[in-house]
Amino acid sequence: MFTVGLTGGIGSGKSMVADCFASHGVPVIDTDVIAHDLTTPGGEALVQIRAVFGDAVMRADGTLDRAALRRRVFADSAARHQLEAILHPRIRQAVERAIAALNAPYALIVIPLLVETGGYRDLLDRVLVIDCPEALQIARVMARSGLARDEVMAILAAQAGRAERLAAADDIIVNTGSPETLRAEVAALHLSYQALSGKILP
Ligand SMILES: Nc1ncnc2c1ncn2[C@@H]1O[C@H](COP(=O)(O)OP(=O)(O)OP(=O)(O)O)[C@@H](O)[C@H]1O
Ligand SMILES: [Mg+2]
Repeated sequence: MFTVGLTGGIGSGKSMVADCFASHGVPVIDTDVIAHDLTTPGGEALVQIRAVFGDAVMRADGTLDRAALRRRVFADSAARHQLEAILHPRIRQAVERAIAALNAPYALIVIPLLVETGGYRDLLDRVLVIDCPEALQIARVMARSGLARDEVMAILAAQAGRAERLAAADDIIVNTGSPETLRAEVAALHLSYQALSGKILP
């Protein structure tokens, strides 16, 4: 299976771009969705998260207190590494299983932290980066989530910078225009990925 990894900073437009590819019938595997599923009750990772971080990150009803866990790992890099050690190998396995189960010319795999984790490159034929000036990322995330400017800037500061991400790109979408422009760029890339996948999978 020919695979395209999609990445970009917070609020850069990954979900919008993924939806555009999906509208062409492209299967989308989203590592955020996988991570969420792994940490719902009955999810593979939840038991271990509870064992490591304790009831302080759990709600009374047995679900994960995501805000409490976020605060815990944001403040403590050792805790963050522990959480990553629980989640990352399982997310990766789930991605591999999902790819193996697909039958399509190519698949899009949304990996927000592709550059930060340094993983997945062996699984990907192509990396597509959504690029966006930070001011626009901040404005879009504030409008969407109601987070304060400071909070968005703290998240941005913890992520890879634009230059680092662009250095990993085979293809780039600059998301400064309208949603229509975005759709047109995705349509062009879709043609190109179909052609590329045809060369690799005769
Ligand atoms: N070209 C655009 N024009 C107008 N609004 C846009 C455009 N691209 C994205 N947005 C809006 O900006 C916000 C962020 O976009 P989106 O959710 O696709 O980003 P994301 O990279 O998936 O974010 P996250 O990292 O939080 O998952 C959304 O509210 C989206 O509707
Ligand atoms: Mg998103």
